[in-house]
Amino acid sequence: MRILSGIQPSGRLHIGNYFGMMRPAIELQDKGDAFYFVANYHALTTVTDGELLRQATLDVALDFLACGLDPEKATFFRQSDVPEVTELAWLLSVVTPMGLLERCHSFKDKTARGVVSNHGLFAYPVLMAADILAYQSNIVPVGKDQKQHVEVTRDIATKFNNLYGEIFVMPEPSIREAVAVVPGIDGKKMSKSYDNHLEMFGNEKELGKRVMRIVTDSTPMEDAKNPDECTVFELFSLFASNDEQEAMAGRYREGGYGYGSAKKLLLEKVGEFFEPMRKRREELEKNVDYVEEVLKKGAEAARMDARATLDRARTAVGL
Ligand code: ADP
Ligand code: TRP
Repeated sequence: MRILSGIQPSGRLHIGNYFGMMRPAIELQDKGDAFYFVANYHALTTVTDGELLRQATLDVALDFLACGLDPEKATFFRQSDVPEVTELAWLLSVVTPMGLLERCHSFKDKTARGVVSNHGLFAYPVLMAADILAYQSNIVPVGKDQKQHVEVTRDIATKFNNLYGEIFVMPEPSIREAVAVVPGIDGKKMSKSYDNHLEMFGNEKELGKRVMRIVTDSTPMEDAKNPDECTVFELFSLFASNDEQEAMAGRYREGGYGYGSAKKLLLEKVGEFFEPMRKRREELEKNVDYVEEVLKKGAEAARMDARATLDRARTAVGL
């Protein structure tokens, strides 16, 4: 079973990325033949500073390794080290109806937010389809916001297979319902573009400030509170054991427990949880050559698979 996912190096990673995508992907590395990559071609749709992109690409690689991606188990590489995907993207783009891309929420959201649209941003799902199809992926672990892109991939693969024969395997998205959408400090989906995120490896003081800013209702301290309608509790649940969750839920319902106290406990939990990963990241930072070596070896393996698929696709279309 081929498992594949990618993450864009377009900013510091946050706990939504961790619970929505990275942790599920890391757990899946024991369940099949995993391919994970840093999607730097995709990041080019929004990052236009070359030095920044290079650094962010390395940062995401460090983050992923620090969080437990094991290069002995998973093939880990930079998307751009497999240029075959861009050629495959072209072969896919000519069978992709405009309407399919026009319907994509992610594109619509970005343009609605005022991101200046370019062809790359519009064609983004086609490149993503090429990533998925090049490696004959069966399972694609992603957060809920990427589900539509996997569906688009399936549509494109179906279209291509109908025209040219069975070239591509049909991929399935894998989404953990419990963490499908991690809320940000304003209660909406956590996203770096909304600036409502909590960084995984951010500065402690900044993290503290942000946790204290998490939006709550204005129930007075003495009154009973509903844990099921509280972002602080929702975030706490990601980090806490069942017993700890029960204990906090009990305090909410009893009353006399303020949101400030819950936030303090959440902050402690976040710190504790990421501490071993932060240490590991510091170690890796001192050994960038090792990281480069991992990415290079990964790319060699990935490239062989992509080449084989691309050759079949080229032949099928008449090149
Ligand atoms: P962002 O919204 O911060 O730009 P990306 O779009 O780069 O994040 O997402 C990278 C991965 O992390 C994707 O698989 C995405 O589904 C997942 N992800 C991002 N934000 C969340 C969230 N709030 N909850 C769950 N998963 C998320
Ligand atoms: N679009 C994904 C994101 O923003 C990154 C990505 C690129 C990806 N190619 C992919 C994810 C292929 C899964 C499979 O996070």
